[in-house]
Amino acid sequence: MKTSLETLILPAGHAAAEAAAWRLAAGGLVAFPTETVYGLGADAGNAAAIAHLYAAKGRPAFNPLIAHVADLAAAQAIGRFDARALRLAEAFWPGPLTLVVPKTDGCPVADLATAGLDTVAIRIPAHPVAQAIVRAFGRAVVAPSANISGHVSPTLAAHVESDLAGRIDLIVDGGPVEVGVESTIVGCLNAPMLLRPGGLSRERIEAVLGLPLLRPQAEAESDDSQPLAPGMLASHYAPRASVRLDARDVAPGEALLAFGPARLPGLDAASAVMNLSPGGDLDEAAANLFGYLRALDAKGPRAIAVMTIPEQDLGEAINDRLRRAAVAR
Ligand code: TXA
Ligand code: MG
Repeated sequence: MKTSLETLILPAGHAAAEAAAWRLAAGGLVAFPTETVYGLGADAGNAAAIAHLYAAKGRPAFNPLIAHVADLAAAQAIGRFDARALRLAEAFWPGPLTLVVPKTDGCPVADLATAGLDTVAIRIPAHPVAQAIVRAFGRAVVAPSANISGHVSPTLAAHVESDLAGRIDLIVDGGPVEVGVESTIVGCLNAPMLLRPGGLSRERIEAVLGLPLLRPQAEAESDDSQPLAPGMLASHYAPRASVRLDARDVAPGEALLAFGPARLPGLDAASAVMNLSPGGDLDEAAANLFGYLRALDAKGPRAIAVMTIPEQDLGEAINDRLRRAAVAR
């Protein structure tokens, strides 16, 4: 793969949106902020551009991409929405929710982006920079998180730069993202299924649906060759250091990722300490999660000990990412 591209970095604004649209139309790769994490965009209808995108990320091509569109009409040109899917779209779009629905006949998203599936993942991002780029481009933009496959998702333009500079055409810098974990993915094929917990809590989705979301079977989740939402690949969100969950103490040389009041035995011997939210706020913790994992990992600790985080609201997505980061590699 080409690793010698000149990667342009532009501050968000009208000129950057125009430049992004132009690069996308020319088959280029453009990183931009969404409210969840930074995405790496390509023209959803351009198979060659999508092939470059997989190569730039080092991502397996059986792992399909999310198509980002500006409004519901554009979403319905790509996917077929049943009554429940429509209710979720109307309640939560634009926002940190991705819906997996059957493709329309003549769906303009390239087969390479959907990994040959007859379903497609769609999202309308709320971030004004993402909105401006998708509108200026005028068609669907496929965008995975803008990181090397297997790395932690980027929440700052600097994270994108450190992973992908020289491999992509443009990075639009819109500052830190707001939500900090990827979108929640709900499959709307039969009964609505929570394929990936994310930036929109299960509780809020279930309140709108009036029924509980199903979870995929455990065995499907652990079979890495046939991922249901392959963001579920077991060790997807991986720092270099090993990660130890539910820490009640800190071992010498470990870094501590704290949550809430942190008074653990061994704290003084920690090689570094960062607190996701001293006040115990799960939204704040989600926004800080990936940046703090990157920052602690950069200090080269033996391991990162992580305090317990409650499994509610955005805690479900935070714990999902932490469990994947903790899988032995
Ligand atoms: O917040 C987000 O969702 C970010 C921003 C950039 O939008 N994007 C993101 O994309 O997280 P990515 O590629 O890192 O994760 C997309 C997930 C993958 O787990 C993929 O397997 C799943 O969506 N996916 C895509 N199409 C699918 C489909 N047809 N059926 C099931 N899962 C699908
Ligand atoms: Mg990703």
